[in-house]
Amino acid sequence: MENQDLQVLVADAKAALIGVPSKAQWEQIKATFLGPKGSLTQYAKRMGSIAKEDRPTFGKLLNQAKGEIEEIFQDRLVKLEELEDLKSLGPPIDPTLPSSPSFLGGIHPLTKTRRRIVSIFKKIGFTVAEASEVETEWFCFDALNTPDDHPARDEQDTLFFPSRSNWANVSRKNQESYLLRTHTSSVQIRTLLKEKPPLRVIAPGRCFRRDTVDATHSANFHQTEGLFVDHKVTVRDLKGVLDYFLKELFGDKVETRLRPSFFPFTEPSFEVDLKVPDLGKLSNKWIEIMGCGMVDPAVLNLVEIDPQEWNGFAFGLGIERVTMLLHGIDDIRHFYQNDQRFLSQFSSQV
Ligand code: PHE
Repeated sequence: MENQDLQVLVADAKAALIGVPSKAQWEQIKATFLGPKGSLTQYAKRMGSIAKEDRPTFGKLLNQAKGEIEEIFQDRLVKLEELEDLKSLGPPIDPTLPSSPSFLGGIHPLTKTRRRIVSIFKKIGFTVAEASEVETEWFCFDALNTPDDHPARDEQDTLFFPSRSNWANVSRKNQESYLLRTHTSSVQIRTLLKEKPPLRVIAPGRCFRRDTVDATHSANFHQTEGLFVDHKVTVRDLKGVLDYFLKELFGDKVETRLRPSFFPFTEPSFEVDLKVPDLGKLSNKWIEIMGCGMVDPAVLNLVEIDPQEWNGFAFGLGIERVTMLLHGIDDIRHFYQNDQRFLSQFSSQV
């Protein structure tokens, strides 16, 4: 009899807890069963009116029912706490919703120009050569036939590593002074020492000069070097390659001219000018674009290539300069300031 009543109480407790939304209500309901005035507590009071010999059984059944009811409440409490935790995480996530747009980075305009230049030269058999930005004075100047007193070697123009002054008393032969390369022409020497002619290489890379930064100067900039060595190479070959290159870059209507110039490592040397009909403010004007010339036999001798058998040409151009001309950019500093308003204008172009 008692057991049946107790089982009804257990079932009641289960039913009472269905859909309880909060811990506060859970507390209230719990009191109606297990509190001092709760139904189980009331039921326990019957003990007094029960025959002595039945009391142990009654007590046992009572404790069993109490245990079951307590467990029911405990389980429910755990679930309520889980729900409260979930609520504190905010609204549930709907994984089927489209994601918010992410910011897509673009390729830097200088990288784009470099890639274009490289791909134009690759079409006519040039391969890419690379060397380090930290160079020795020998590779940057001596091997390129640059005299000791050449102004480019001046500490006002070139960024030398501090050790240079300590070398003052060491003979030139043993002296290795390091600097940040001022041009990519050092890659000519590294290539000539490594590879046997005939060769065609293009060497894009970063260069450094001790320049005061303004709209057209930057202490850090980029160049692309070109070197072509073969038998019986002529200035006409040089002009042909550069005309092809500049047409690919600036369009078929480009006109070019070679103007005599001087570089210690080329003889004869030229500046290349170009004229383009549609180049904004610079349309139809002669603009200097790059330096070039026939590799000086003295350079070939130095790297033990016989200048009677081999000769060639070299050229070098600034990647910033080309990019500025192509896109009508008027200040070199834009390239290094990481301003999204500037950079995003190039992000859709390949
Ligand atoms: N290195 C030269 C410069 O920085 C450019 C150049 C390269 C000229 C190759 C001739 C041949 O101005």
